[in-house]
Amino acid sequence: MKPAVRVTITGAAGNIGYAAAFRIAAGGMLGTDQPIILQLIEIEPALDALRGVEMELRDCAFPLLKDIISTADINIGFKDVDYALLIGSRPRTKGMERSDLLSANGKIFGPQGRAINDHASRDVKVLVVGNPANTNALIAMSNAPDISPTQFTSMMRLDHNRAISQLSTKTRIPVTKIEHMALWGNHSLTQYPDISHCMVDGKSANSLVNESWYRNEFIPKVQKRGAEIINARGASSAASAASAAIDHMRDWALGTANDAWISMGIVSTGDYGIAKGLMYSFPVRCKNGTYEVIQGLSMDDFSVKMAKASEAELLEEREAVKDLL
Ligand code: NAD
Ligand code: LMR
Repeated sequence: MKPAVRVTITGAAGNIGYAAAFRIAAGGMLGTDQPIILQLIEIEPALDALRGVEMELRDCAFPLLKDIISTADINIGFKDVDYALLIGSRPRTKGMERSDLLSANGKIFGPQGRAINDHASRDVKVLVVGNPANTNALIAMSNAPDISPTQFTSMMRLDHNRAISQLSTKTRIPVTKIEHMALWGNHSLTQYPDISHCMVDGKSANSLVNESWYRNEFIPKVQKRGAEIINARGASSAASAASAAIDHMRDWALGTANDAWISMGIVSTGDYGIAKGLMYSFPVRCKNGTYEVIQGLSMDDFSVKMAKASEAELLEEREAVKDLL
């Protein structure tokens, strides 16, 4: 049996946390041979609810689940953590944009970044899900000077998965046959789901769908999917977000299969002309616990315009939180 690893989930009594915790404990994130200690963090008023989550987790008698620590103390919750899912924060409601959450949520991530800096495993992998995810990840990363910026990421995998699903529905080709989807930019209305490198069952996606559908239906559909779900459910996406978070961490930790691409919000080192230091989504592949940006992709004028629009929005968000960095 491998030694247990520690997985922290913040907001573990919330909708996404609740959906994620059980799948992680069952081995859905790190594999069915990887024992886990769950470290669940909530704010004080939610500790009763968290106790209920802990009881249910114990009642599942998951063979891989070696221990559960439930706490409102982030210094305890991030102690020695190997994988940290930063979910806890307010979701938007009808009529809001995700950036409207910056003032409510941004201040959560500085202290959490510092606690990770001071207490986490030096190899910790951090995924920020709480919105606006990219800039919150930037705040956490900036407050953890002793941890490599490459260990902080933001969640774009839900957008990536949504894009694959929409293209699959349109072309009637299974999702497993869709390769090389790329999501660029921010987890917001400016995100750019890019099918120009996509292969669908061996054929280029561009040859299977027309440009008007791509630009006027597909792109807005993916960009606005979060709001569409809020309007339908009266609450923001939860099970699909938990699933995407698990996909993100699994692929980062265990590697992407063969030549598969995924999309991750990562700190920009200037690839594709994107400002250094922004938390920006690029297509990547993962191996041995690290990611690398897919290099050498041709970007036509439309792609450059879209990628730059999302960069501009992230630059504005960064300016708005400069006191937290
Ligand atoms: P929720 O309201 O159901 O749960 C949030 C939980 O976080 C609550 O239990 C709350 O008590 C807890 N919390 C609040 N502040 C906290 C803090 N400082 N420390 C620890 N816990 C804290 O919300 P949800 O549906 O689970 O969504 C959580 C976040 O994820 C929201 O910001 C939402 O917008 C975001 N989200 C992001 C994506 C993405 O793709 N990046 C997708 C879906 C949702
Ligand atoms: C989503 O994309 O579903 C989440 O970010 C929730 C939201 O506010 O859209």
